[in-house]
Amino acid sequence: MLKLQGRDIYLATLEREHCHTLWREAEYDWANPTEPPNIGHSEEKADAWFDEIQKLQGERNLRLGIFSNDGTVLGDVALQDIDRTNRSCTLGMGIARLANRGKGYGQQALALILDYAFRFLGLERVSASTLAPNTGAQRSLLKAGFLLEGTERQAVYLDGHRVDRLNYALLREEWRTP
Ligand SMILES: CC(C)(COP(=O)(O)OP(=O)(O)OC[C@H]1O[C@@H](n2cnc3c(N)ncnc32)[C@H](O)[C@@H]1OP(=O)(O)O)[C@@H](O)C(=O)NCCC(=O)NCCS
Repeated sequence: MLKLQGRDIYLATLEREHCHTLWREAEYDWANPTEPPNIGHSEEKADAWFDEIQKLQGERNLRLGIFSNDGTVLGDVALQDIDRTNRSCTLGMGIARLANRGKGYGQQALALILDYAFRFLGLERVSASTLAPNTGAQRSLLKAGFLLEGTERQAVYLDGHRVDRLNYALLREEWRTP
């Protein structure tokens, strides 16, 4: 089993039970919105999510759970659409419960997965996108060293408004091992 150890958290394989917990606990933050809102789905969908993770794992994606050191699953982080020709991928990350956000877990998870992406997988570029109103995710990406590359103006319809999608990326040579 893959386990990447940080200070307060570790990254490890997500089992079906963890997917159920994350599905149940996921809270949508309208102050820091993401797309698409993963709300209104039955917990049964957690099984489909787990199956999809298994199908893509090691091929196109590497998705790991974010666990506190006592083994509680807090969220997940993923290298997605891994492109071995261009040595690039996109990043996705989420901490399920609002109460667990802003406590530094995401930053530690980012450090671990980026280290794995650049050093172990030999990737050269990791990109990530977020919505303009999601200032929390933007702070998180900037803190990890990502740079804003572009804005897709009014790309997403959200809660009665059209909002911009911001595209960030981090290159291997810009990555500073924590
Ligand atoms: C984005 C997310 C993964 C960041 O993880 P996190 O554990 O909350 O972030 P951290 O505690 O490591 O914070 C890193 C920085 O971002 C800021 N930040 C991130 N998310 C924040 C939030 N929701 N509210 C306030 N600040 C936030 C922190 O204040 C911190 O900056 P600082 O040190 O200058 O204060 C998490 O907030 C989350 O799951 N959000 C919902 C899903 C999402 O937006 N995903 C997009 C990923 S591109």
